[in-house]
Amino acid sequence: MEKIYFALPGNEKLTSILIEKENAEKGAFEIRQFPDGETYVRILSDVNGKKVFLVCSLNDPNTKLFPLYFLSKTAKDLGAKNTCLIAPYLAYMRQDKVFNPGEAVTSTYFAEFISSFIDCLITIDPHLHRRKSLAEIYSIPTQVRHATNPIAEWIKNNIETPILIGPDSESEQWVSEVAQKANAPYKILTKLRHGDFDVAVSIPDIAQYKNHTPVVIDDIISTGRTLIETVKQLQKLQMKPAICIGVHALFSVNTAEEIMKSGVQHIVTCNTISHESNQIDISDLLLL
Ligand code: R5P
Repeated sequence: MEKIYFALPGNEKLTSILIEKENAEKGAFEIRQFPDGETYVRILSDVNGKKVFLVCSLNDPNTKLFPLYFLSKTAKDLGAKNTCLIAPYLAYMRQDKVFNPGEAVTSTYFAEFISSFIDCLITIDPHLHRRKSLAEIYSIPTQVRHATNPIAEWIKNNIETPILIGPDSESEQWVSEVAQKANAPYKILTKLRHGDFDVAVSIPDIAQYKNHTPVVIDDIISTGRTLIETVKQLQKLQMKPAICIGVHALFSVNTAEEIMKSGVQHIVTCNTISHESNQIDISDLLLL
């Protein structure tokens, strides 16, 4: 069946790589805002009978949802066989329980909404913590791909004697796998988050690794607080300057700058979200 790829705004670079590797058709469409803020969408390519791939990393999700919804609905109205969302970063995964009475469990509602207008979903390292699989909240077929191989390769090619650090318990799932693939030791710390910008991290027991380069690995870098607090603890132990690796470069505020100011040697991210720190190419993970 013919495949056609549409790059939602901000996803053009990654989509071009996928189109080339898949030898697929590039979808043409128009999207713009009316003066009143409503969204205009028009599909210019023939999608009739085709498998439509919508490439849209879901950082800053609220601005992206309506364009995505309209595009998927229009493709189906024009006879598309089905629509598949390629979302290298999947949003709304962290509010996965009621922490305080009256709170919305947005990860569930978001999953229900996406499942109502998309037929399948491919993503990379979604933040699965208390939930073990996307099938718990998504009612469409989902495929989760992991960035552990490309991250391990990058470490092997760039760092001579690394000690990998996971800042919190949920990071163990990917840090342990990267450590095994990169043949490196690792330590997992304990994190307590008191607020969006208020994070405390335990002091690691890593005196024996003084001559190693600490490599802090996290799935999401948002405010950067988790990495900054982790790096502070490493500095107290007089470790070498750390290298920080993130899968998803959300960089919500002036995060990159703040992290570099904290004395980090280097920040490296995967290209699930386009950012100047992208050094690890994950496009192969998104191939069908
Ligand atoms: C949390 O559970 C995630 O794995 C990340 O550690 C967290 O989202 C990072 O956020 P921030 O950069 O705001 O500390």
